[in-house]
Amino acid sequence: MAKSKHILLVIGGGIAAYKAAELIRLIRKSGMTVRCVLTESGAQFVTPMTLAALSENEVHTTLWSLKDETEMGHIQLSREADLIVICPATANLLAKMAGGIADDLATTLLLATNRPVLAVPAMNVRMWQHAATQRNIAQLKTDGIIVMQPDEGDMACGEFGPGRLPEPDVVMAEIASLLRSPFLTGAGSLQSELGPNPLDGQPAFAPDQHRPLHGKHVLVTAGPTHEPIDPVRYIANRSSGRQGFAIAAAAADAGARVTLVAGPVHLPTPAGVMRVDVETAIEMEKAVLDALPADVAIMVAAVADWRADSQSGQKIKKEGAAPAPLKLTENPDILAGLARHDQRPGLLIGFAAETEKISEHAKAKLEKKSCDWIVANDVSGPIGESVMGGTDNSVHIVTGSGTEIWERLPKMEVARRLVAKIGKEIS
Ligand code: C5P
Repeated sequence: MAKSKHILLVIGGGIAAYKAAELIRLIRKSGMTVRCVLTESGAQFVTPMTLAALSENEVHTTLWSLKDETEMGHIQLSREADLIVICPATANLLAKMAGGIADDLATTLLLATNRPVLAVPAMNVRMWQHAATQRNIAQLKTDGIIVMQPDEGDMACGEFGPGRLPEPDVVMAEIASLLRSPFLTGAGSLQSELGPNPLDGQPAFAPDQHRPLHGKHVLVTAGPTHEPIDPVRYIANRSSGRQGFAIAAAAADAGARVTLVAGPVHLPTPAGVMRVDVETAIEMEKAVLDALPADVAIMVAAVADWRADSQSGQKIKKEGAAPAPLKLTENPDILAGLARHDQRPGLLIGFAAETEKISEHAKAKLEKKSCDWIVANDVSGPIGESVMGGTDNSVHIVTGSGTEIWERLPKMEVARRLVAKIGKEIS
């Protein structure tokens, strides 16, 4: 049987530290081992005794323990884990990490490690939204740290907004997903306790190559566009933006600088991603061209094919039996325009929503749009079970060298796989 995975859990000083106890329980339940490092301020919220009892391992709190340094130095502590998880990751801890400061056991081992690191931020909403924190998050992502998006809701401090620690089961799901991810694990080296590996047989990165897009600029479009008819009505489609946002998040996790041009959707900006909000296809085209040059462009947006030829400045009134016919005019094809642009991204990827003959239609689209890959989603099926607006996706990847058909997967998993494939292509 394969060796069980080992997690090093760093617990920072925030009110959410108590949730680390539940996370330890879930990690143990999944068959993994866990060792805890508690910061000085973390110890104000949770005791070493609780963590030791739950983890059934010694808890490390100081850099200056002679006993620890002879038995297991901080370098070894930082290297023995399959994944280091910081939960909760406070604004202070994230800032120190971004600045390369090593002034206690936690920050020293985080600087010394060569293992993948997952940070789970938790802090007051204003601290999370502060430009300094967002700058630090962007830097950490560029440095290869994986940063989870905090939850939104009521906070212990009485305010409301993003900054809450995600629930322990959500953090656990992220840990399990990362340990299956091609960024962290060679395919086939996965552990039975994590269940079947959706990535088996896929090309994978070696564990120390978990930043395959480091230094690259990745441009992503996502969501629908809204094409106004009058001040209150518009033409739209069912795109939720979830797949594009997941791709932007996965690209940032892989070390890329990401520009996400988003149509009107209600989704939080993935941490460390530069978001430009637009409404219409014309605005989206301008934002895309303004973002050039890019190494990779992934056009996931469901851009409206047509817009109203002229917009009424006033609400069109219900007068008489039938309204005047709506005259439509074609929108610019942003993807096809990028393919002809003199700053054409090195790898240009389009999406296609198809209801039948998926691969056949996707191949035709690859030629027509002169892009390098088409990711075709099967959007057939009744509304509600459909991929469009849903949480899963079922895709065919059509490239110049053939077609891959992936099974139905959560959109985040599709995103991770796609980013892994992109990393391999451009490396
Ligand atoms: O032609 P169709 O809409 O099926 O093509 C889909 C692909 O083209 C997607 O990648 C989409 O983002 C892109 N597209 C675009 N501009 C348009 C229409 C589609 O960039 N006006």
